[in-house]
Amino acid sequence: MNDIPKLLTDLPGPKSRKVLSLRQDYVPKGVYETAPVVVKKAKGALIEDLDGNILLDFTSGIAVVNVGHAPDEVVDAISTQAEKLIHSCIHVASYEPYLNLAKKLVEISPGDFPKMAFFLNSGAEAIENAVKVARYFKRKIGIIAFENAFHGRTLLTMSLTSKYRPYKLGFYAYSPGIVRYPYPYPYRCPFKSKSPEECAYATLEFIERGFATYIDPEETAAILFEPVQGEGGYIVPPPEFVKGLREIADKYGLVLINDEVQTGMGRTGKMFAIEHFNTVPDMITLAKSLASGMPISAVVGRKEILDSVHAGGIGGTFGGNPVCAAAALATIDIIEKSLSHAEKIGHEMDKRLKELYDKHEVIGEYRGLGPMKAIELVEDRKSKRPAKDLTNGIVKEALKRGLLLLTAGIYGNVIRIVPPITISLEQLDIGFSILDEAIREASKGV
Ligand SMILES: Cc1ncc(COP(=O)(O)O)c(C=O)c1O
Repeated sequence: MNDIPKLLTDLPGPKSRKVLSLRQDYVPKGVYETAPVVVKKAKGALIEDLDGNILLDFTSGIAVVNVGHAPDEVVDAISTQAEKLIHSCIHVASYEPYLNLAKKLVEISPGDFPKMAFFLNSGAEAIENAVKVARYFKRKIGIIAFENAFHGRTLLTMSLTSKYRPYKLGFYAYSPGIVRYPYPYPYRCPFKSKSPEECAYATLEFIERGFATYIDPEETAAILFEPVQGEGGYIVPPPEFVKGLREIADKYGLVLINDEVQTGMGRTGKMFAIEHFNTVPDMITLAKSLASGMPISAVVGRKEILDSVHAGGIGGTFGGNPVCAAAALATIDIIEKSLSHAEKIGHEMDKRLKELYDKHEVIGEYRGLGPMKAIELVEDRKSKRPAKDLTNGIVKEALKRGLLLLTAGIYGNVIRIVPPITISLEQLDIGFSILDEAIREASKGV
């Protein structure tokens, strides 16, 4: 798969089209589809479809294959572990991968205090459990969450999620005890502040005021936040905001829960995005790229909080499955070796994004941390009106040229650029050239 992208047919090609008809017939449309692609195999940053087309992947399966599709070391770890033990259930009998992974995450996560970790199956489940444990520990119900946030699709996490359509509409997502505040989105600051710092301070002040008007600290257990909002549009908050959340949590005795499901495991060029903010949370949730696509998620945090729950109160049948845990250990190994490359990729992306911004007026802003980047598309830079159709048009044009992209944002006008952090500079360059062409082509229709 060297000659990339390689398009032999229109997308979808005849073989893919035949298989996709199964999707139409047997899978509900609520399980949404971004691209009409049927994957045969994938390696690194490349995906081959059933018709032999080779696509360049700038989505990483929604920030999951951070060290590329099917890294050899992870594949080896999976098959070696599968031959030994696929399942025993951690509640029945212990096994090394679970315990070694807990130790590893405790060692590498921020916080110079005793910590523990336990495992679940998805990002949503990790958030459910972090909130559940924080409430148990504090014996309080209140959870402070934020606008634009995405935390999952279960009843509790859907209630914590902010974007209404499509995530909440019609599902009666009204789990009690959740209070939602604005998030400092510097490009569209809800307080119309003049600078990102002012936006951060205005938001923090609003939260403080909320203790008088929305929920008393006496009834508040935790603050739950994403260090960079993912589905919300790759919104990077000013550092003052994250530091301020820590101060509020300390002042009122709240648990600070850092949702790193999308930002964690090297995505931003550091193991955890929170490291960019020199702030230490009480709990971190991880999932997505923890095990290169094997389903496992984690809650890591202060021992006194996690270990407060009585036996049997947390866990589950599959959580921390041996094969997934082995894949996670192998993945972390690769991430640790790839962080300096990730940083380099991030700098290169900044350069390429600046060129695109200078060239295309429809890019209102580009932003991100390390190799977790995005562009926000607008009708014009003055009005900043979101250009959703154009955004979808760019994604379509890119796909026609063999580049897989994903949108995000509460207005659907953000394109995420999240290739594997191990991508070569040459592949990155090819992807950016296609993105450039796609923006030019899609802008013609505007
Ligand atoms: C920040 C964040 N939290 C939680 C989730 C939910 O994860 P999952 O889809 O694995 O349930 C996501 C998924 O996109 C996410 O981005």
